[in-house]
Amino acid sequence: GYDLWLRYRPLPAAPRAALAAAATGIAAPSDTPTVRAAVAELQRGLAGLLGRTPDTIAVAARPRTGAVVLARAARLPTGLADVDALRAALATAGAEGYVVRRTRINGAPVTLVAANTDIGLLYGGFAWLRQLQLGAAPEGIALLDKPALPLRVLDHWDNLDRTVERGYAGESIWNWWELPHIVDPRYTDYARANASLGINGAVLNNVNAKAEVLSPAFLAKTAAIADVLRPYGIRVYLSVRWSTPLELKETKTADPLDPAVAAWWARKADEIYRTIPDFGGFLVKANSEGQPGPQDYGRNHADGANMLARALAPHRGIVMWRAFVYSPPAHPAQASDRAAQAYDQFQPLDGKFADNVLVQVKNGAIDFQPREPAHPLFGAMPHTPLMMEFQVTKEYLGFATHLVYLGPLFQETLRFDTRAGGQPMPVARVLEGAQQGRVGGIAGVANIGASRNWTGSTFDQANWYAFGRFAWNPDLDSRAVAREWAGLTFAPDPRVVDPVVDMMMRSREAAVDYMTPLGLHHMMGTGHHYGPAPWVDDLGRADWNPVYYHRAGKDGIGFDRTATGSNAVAQYAPDVARRLADPATTPPELLLWFHHLPWDYRMPSGRTLWDELVAHYDHGVAEVDAMQAEWQRLRPYVDARRYADVAQRLAQQRREAQWWRDACIAYFQHRSGLPLPAGARPPA
Ligand code: GCU
Repeated sequence: GYDLWLRYRPLPAAPRAALAAAATGIAAPSDTPTVRAAVAELQRGLAGLLGRTPDTIAVAARPRTGAVVLARAARLPTGLADVDALRAALATAGAEGYVVRRTRINGAPVTLVAANTDIGLLYGGFAWLRQLQLGAAPEGIALLDKPALPLRVLDHWDNLDRTVERGYAGESIWNWWELPHIVDPRYTDYARANASLGINGAVLNNVNAKAEVLSPAFLAKTAAIADVLRPYGIRVYLSVRWSTPLELKETKTADPLDPAVAAWWARKADEIYRTIPDFGGFLVKANSEGQPGPQDYGRNHADGANMLARALAPHRGIVMWRAFVYSPPAHPAQASDRAAQAYDQFQPLDGKFADNVLVQVKNGAIDFQPREPAHPLFGAMPHTPLMMEFQVTKEYLGFATHLVYLGPLFQETLRFDTRAGGQPMPVARVLEGAQQGRVGGIAGVANIGASRNWTGSTFDQANWYAFGRFAWNPDLDSRAVAREWAGLTFAPDPRVVDPVVDMMMRSREAAVDYMTPLGLHHMMGTGHHYGPAPWVDDLGRADWNPVYYHRAGKDGIGFDRTATGSNAVAQYAPDVARRLADPATTPPELLLWFHHLPWDYRMPSGRTLWDELVAHYDHGVAEVDAMQAEWQRLRPYVDARRYADVAQRLAQQRREAQWWRDACIAYFQHRSGLPLPAGARPPA
């Protein structure tokens, strides 16, 4: 599994011969580090697909018949056919896009990979290799693409001791102990995998950051990583702890309005940029879950973000300031709904952030649940560029044990229509700045670790893949992305791809059903977030307890977020709020997120709420049965090692789906006092 989706296994005989004729070598114009990376990847990819060694793929400066020609717009080869059409295409490709097409140079057929920049050439090379791996005939490949968002970032929650917060794939890939002088070649493979998707940023350390990350020793280590990632178009960023100067005893306070504090950050920024001239900037978690922040000094998030932004601005760095705030309320009266906190604190600051600040908002208002409605802030910050924060690592979705493909979750959130401004305004358009006039970005909390297969399980590689593809193009279709990944990872053969994709496409809804159907949320084991624990009611803060979220009692179940409850629905644009305020117009899959309803409430299916709830739990288990059966049928087509690993994980998922179902139904039955509906599955 180490090769991820860049396996480049030999093609069958006929397409191999066609490719050998169509790709006789590589012609590259200039010798920059990024072009060298593109050439090396093309050599590796072509050699693999042709069943040869990379040194047999000739590289020359000048194109010859059948070459794969890399060309920047500013220096197109002479004798190129259809040059006007090509220039027109390149004019739309932007700084990171590319054009790939079959054409002729002085009459000789070539494959042209053209772009305005070197990074566009690298992306174009990867895109071409992807098509070849998926079985496309070289003659037929014609590509024109560019990313929709300029910031496509992986957030590593990696600690400096190599543990990974919410990481299920072994230690951190960043070997801080050995850096900066010992540089693991794996960093290059990490960069290749990311560049193949267009990911162009990496925040190296945990949002629960330590002050030392800004010490000279760690900046040197960071610089060494940056040197490896740079040719692949990936900038490094760091998470910073708000109170860093105070903790390093270099200032007397961390008040953002204190000139000595601002001066410290400005000096620190200068120091960083001396060793990492293209350093991306800072990610900040402040005044959340016990982290320090500007509120400790009576200031607000904009005061904090803008002070850091001023330090980074001369170097063109940015601040990604997280909206995930989750702190004990200052006034008990505000304690009513955790889901409302971020909006309450950030919406009043809309338009108050400096130009190089982006507010980074989790996909939903609680915390990466199996299903959440899109965060209300996406429709409520018309003057602030926003970044999406998805969680690729599956903290609440069965870690690396359960097979859950996140493509549908990404798609559902990106297409959620905020109706901001009273018009269609899907979240994807908000990120692109349709309202703001300023573009945002997308971040994913990485699921990558030092395990041999990077992500802890084969199918979790698909979530890294899908994150990258959606970051490049938020309008992609999750099934199409799954098809690509399955073809690249196993084989581009419908006998493999169809069932693998079918398993993937049912997997997320299966997990929702056996964990938290109908809008339920946050019922996982507290702390570790694995397995069911809807009964927990004794933790120190009300909003740490699952009972706070499901509110099941004799009278019914669900969290009332309408005007009779916390009124968090009012944080959505009026069109959306109106729909969500009424159970009859709330999508059933979000019903109990917004409403507390009696057990005999009639669902659109005609069943009572109680019967429907049980049916969903049962269905979730049945779906895992179906996934297991599909995988068994794939045995002849998948190598033994990956087959066995997936099979044992599915068996564990099946046991745990049953555990979830039995525990939740027993617990809710104890609350509702109702019998199991006729036809329900028996408990294990
Ligand atoms: C969740 C997660 C924490 C993480 C936090 C965050 O609460 O459980 O481990 O630190 O999110 O996003 O900051």
